[in-house]
Amino acid sequence: MKDIRLLSEWIQQSRFTVVLTGAGMSTESGLPDFRSKSGWWKNYDPTTIASVDAMVANYSLFHEFYTMRLKTLAGCSPHRGHYILADWEARGLVHSIATQNVDGFHKAAGSRRVYELHGSLKSIRCSGCGRPGTVEDFLERADCRCCGGRLRPGVVLFGEALPQDAWNSALRDMKKADLVLVIGTSLQVYPANQLPSMTAGKTAFINYEVQGTGSGFDMAVQGKAGEVLAELDRMIK
Ligand code: OAD
Repeated sequence: MKDIRLLSEWIQQSRFTVVLTGAGMSTESGLPDFRSKSGWWKNYDPTTIASVDAMVANYSLFHEFYTMRLKTLAGCSPHRGHYILADWEARGLVHSIATQNVDGFHKAAGSRRVYELHGSLKSIRCSGCGRPGTVEDFLERADCRCCGGRLRPGVVLFGEALPQDAWNSALRDMKKADLVLVIGTSLQVYPANQLPSMTAGKTAFINYEVQGTGSGFDMAVQGKAGEVLAELDRMIK
């Protein structure tokens, strides 16, 4: 409580706040994260299912996994925490959000300056010629209408580089930030996990589990993203 009060003051005093989110930001929307007990990677080995090699060598399995991810996503929507961050941007309390999430929830909630470091699940494209496709085509396992290639979601697979624009924008803002809020991530995946160390500003970690990962931050708040953001929002208003 004392920490949340102090963090609410940091947010109000900061002139340039940048947010970094991970899968823990969306679990309250009903989407599993990756490394918690019920996370995706507890049941699937990412290298055999979410890598370039997997897409080429075993498209059926790859397609099955991303069909499941898309169908899960279709049944979920942003929660109050996403809307609070969007409102803070509109009120000048947040400059931008760099997210590792591919669900599109920050934009859906109204955040405008969002850098999707790991791409977007619903941005289907051809794995051959790169032309855009539709989610429906992907789910039906149709081929690319232009070249007959296989369709894939626009997410960063293991073995692929991050989208350059998103990465550069996130890095630029981290360097300018005087406050960075890191929410719902285990910070295990490179290079997104390097971003919090790129700022000279204050850093705060809001996560369900804070032991270990939270130690490198100026403040660690243990709790659920939506609940902590709602509490902060009440204090700021
Ligand atoms: P992880 O699953 O590794 O970490 C999620 C973190 O959020 C864990 O520390 C959870 O304890 C925490 N958490 C869960 N629910 C929460 C809640 N309601 N509020 C606050 N914290 C909560 O997910 P990421 O760090 O996002 O990459 O994983 C990074 C990348 O690894 C993903 O983008 C994905 C994956 O492989 C790609 O697919 C390229």
